Amino acid sequence: MASVAKKVCVTGAGGFVASWLVKLLLSKGYTVHGTVRQPGSPKYEHLLKLEKASENLTLFKADLLNYESVHSAILGCTAVFHVASPVPSTTSSNPEVEVIEPAVKGTANVLEASLQAKVERVVFVSSEAAVCMSPNLPKDKVIDESYWSDKDCCKKTQNGYCYSKTEAEEQPSTLQKNWA
Ligand SMILES: NC(=O)c1ccc[n+]([C@@H]2O[C@H](COP(=O)([O-])OP(=O)(O)OC[C@H]3O[C@@H](n4cnc5c(N)ncnc54)[C@H](OP(=O)(O)O)[C@@H]3O)[C@@H](O)[C@H]2O)c1
Repeated sequence: MASVAKKVCVTGAGGFVASWLVKLLLSKGYTVHGTVRQPGSPKYEHLLKLEKASENLTLFKADLLNYESVHSAILGCTAVFHVASPVPSTTSSNPEVEVIEPAVKGTANVLEASLQAKVERVVFVSSEAAVCMSPNLPKDKVIDESYWSDKDCCKKTQNGYCYSKTEAEEQPSTLQKNWA
């Protein structure tokens, strides 16, 4: 990335993966817009203690389901790392609302806001969950995007996480026509 274009957004900045990413980006001199849902919460204190955070990290209150909040955080950035996603530790009692909608609509909002803000690159952090849930997964092949998780199988096994990852993967192609 060119040295003049160093402002990037990381969604879900306080999460496990995103926190390490924020640390790395700050260490490499990037200015980071991090999205969090509860600014002021002690759960983000580790971010504020990172080297260069006081100068180069700004936390934005944003929920993936609120387009305007996502857009505000992304505005002015040349790249977006979309890491935020519900990661349930147990089976969700209402996966449609708690897991699938934020993952899928949230990803669409991030992509749409990135398009509007003329972001040059979006990096979407997915999961092996997007490809692992299939009854006929070959054991002798490298598993890639030719083997999306079987959504019926996800539903039957009440695996909203795998379903959400597979469904969210379809968002870029939904918006692809707009990325000229
Ligand atoms: N951890 C791993 O080993 C691993 C491996 C492969 C892939 N991944 C993928 O990496 C991503 C992050 O995983 P993680 O382990 O870092 O999870 P995590 O620690 O639970 O972090 C998830 C983050 O997503 C944010 N989030 C959830 N719902 C949101 C919503 N509706 N609006 C805005 N933010 C929301 C949370 O923000 P708040 O804290 O502000 O609420 C949280 O910071 C996931 O997509 C996961 O599938 C993780």
